[in-house]
Amino acid sequence: MSTASPLPPEAPFGHNLHLLPQTNQLRALHTVIRDRHARREDFVFYSGRIIRMLIEEGLNLLPFEPHDVETPVGRKYPGLRFASEICGVSIARAGESMEAALRVACPSIRIGKILIQRDKVTKLPHLYYSALPPDIAKRHVLLLDPMLATGGTALAAIQVLLDRGVAEEHIIFVTLIAVPQGIAAVTRRYPRVKVVTSSIEERLNEHAYMLPGIGDFGDRYFGTDK
Ligand code: URA
Repeated sequence: MSTASPLPPEAPFGHNLHLLPQTNQLRALHTVIRDRHARREDFVFYSGRIIRMLIEEGLNLLPFEPHDVETPVGRKYPGLRFASEICGVSIARAGESMEAALRVACPSIRIGKILIQRDKVTKLPHLYYSALPPDIAKRHVLLLDPMLATGGTALAAIQVLLDRGVAEEHIIFVTLIAVPQGIAAVTRRYPRVKVVTSSIEERLNEHAYMLPGIGDFGDRYFGTDK
């Protein structure tokens, strides 16, 4: 069962936004990674812990079917098992930081990749590269990007999956932090896509960074910040 209660349908983003329970532990983990003075190894370690929670929550949203087993003491356990095939798709570069957590939970999972960048002239998101499992149309997809800011990249990535035949309701977008503008962009255009996040930020600043935010996630995670 999902631990992150979906927001009530009257909430501005609809019932497909799943916000992790805002526990003290989660706030403490966020406190480490939001600190501008955090050491890189702490940023990687503690963001990884939150990402593991998000992945588990994403897996909670998959369909399950009954699967009974017999226990060592001869009793039936009325269990469940995953009812669908799944795969991950990371949006390069920051989404690659979420692949390890997905592999911990699902060691043999297939993970595709999408590279989308904003065209310098048109300012529109442009698909540069994609490598996806050939049978992706029959799978549920955990789409991975830790930052949901304007939503432009997320929308383009979801469109790539739809063009490959993935059902909209089979897409679970997993993101570390999100801003209302980006959540609205995704949930209005694709109301059947599920969005899992650990924090809803206040807003974007004039440079499209989230506030209070985390800075540039990719640079901090991969150690390419100045
Ligand atoms: N990407 C980031 O890395 N950080 C933001 O705040 C927004 C987009």
